[in-house]
Amino acid sequence: MSSQHTKILNVNNFDDANSVKEAAKLLKNGELVAFPTETVYGLGANGLSTEAVMNIFTAKGRPSDNPLILHIGELEQLDALVSERSELANQLIESFWPGALTLVMKRSQLVPDIVTAKLDTVAIRMPSHPVARRILKEVQLPIAAPSANRSGRPSPTLAEHVMNDLNGRIAAVVDGGACGYGLESTVVDLSGDVPVILRPGGVTEEMIEDAVGTSVMRPTANTAEHTPKSPGMKYRHYAPDTALIIGGKQANELQELIDQYRNKGKRVAAAVTADLQKEIQADHHLNLGEKDRLDRVSQRVYQVLREVDALQPNVDVCIIQSFEEKGIGRAIMNRLNKAANV
Ligand code: TXA
Ligand code: MG
Repeated sequence: MSSQHTKILNVNNFDDANSVKEAAKLLKNGELVAFPTETVYGLGANGLSTEAVMNIFTAKGRPSDNPLILHIGELEQLDALVSERSELANQLIESFWPGALTLVMKRSQLVPDIVTAKLDTVAIRMPSHPVARRILKEVQLPIAAPSANRSGRPSPTLAEHVMNDLNGRIAAVVDGGACGYGLESTVVDLSGDVPVILRPGGVTEEMIEDAVGTSVMRPTANTAEHTPKSPGMKYRHYAPDTALIIGGKQANELQELIDQYRNKGKRVAAAVTADLQKEIQADHHLNLGEKDRLDRVSQRVYQVLREVDALQPNVDVCIIQSFEEKGIGRAIMNRLNKAANV
């Protein structure tokens, strides 16, 4: 991909309206524009144009068998993109849209093959972030948008992260400050008989079950490994360049693990919550936030993975604490497991 000048469009001051208009205009012209959502920054392109979507794969270095999510601004856009809308879909839409929930449904012919990686389903989400909504309203097109990172890297939660990964490879980034959730949306497959959570996120299993009154399925590690229903699940993801190792939840187990590496002459960064900072000795300390505020931990986690790499060349390994796998903790652990080396 040829090198280009990446514009930073601000939305926190007087040039607000112009930035939104310019982002929409670039998207209509087939250009790539990164923009904030309530989950992470997305790398948008016209979702109905094969050529525009192809540029996303090139800019990210993304494998072409990993399908993209289409983002819509209004519910009226949905029916043209799917071949059927079930009662279950309606219930989930009613409860969680706009918001951090992506629904996988049977696709219509309108959706280009490149968006779905030739699957017979398409993933769709209506984001709630005010800037994303304004851009989608202005552009009046479904926007294909994966997370705006280089493939394999931690997803971006600040415009600065997008610039670090994609400067010179995309037309513009709309800077709307930090994303709220900090982790990608929950992906639920509605194309079969029961809803299956393909990727845990801010809209939790518990919330979904409450809303629909039936239980949902999680693919087991085994089924995910052998028949990846969500093709993205088979790749290593979100990974810092530094070796990342997941430790326990308690100070003593974490310290033991850190000492094992230090005794081998390794320089260790410890990424733990605020309550554990004073109890733990390591070469570098990274703060994951308050232990009782997992929503904040989720907002910080990708930032911390990027902070690890900023310590290079002075660190050999990062040991990160684990969290209980319930609520948003499940999404945090899912991403850490994909980012970790062992
Ligand atoms: O929060 C998010 O979802 C962000 C923001 C920008 O909206 N987007 C995002 O996109 O995380 P991406 O491309 O990084 O992740 C999309 C995930 C991948 O795991 C992909 O395999 C899965 O959704 N996916 C997309 N289409 C699918 C389909 N038809 N069937 C199953 N999985 C699908
Ligand atoms: Mg991604």
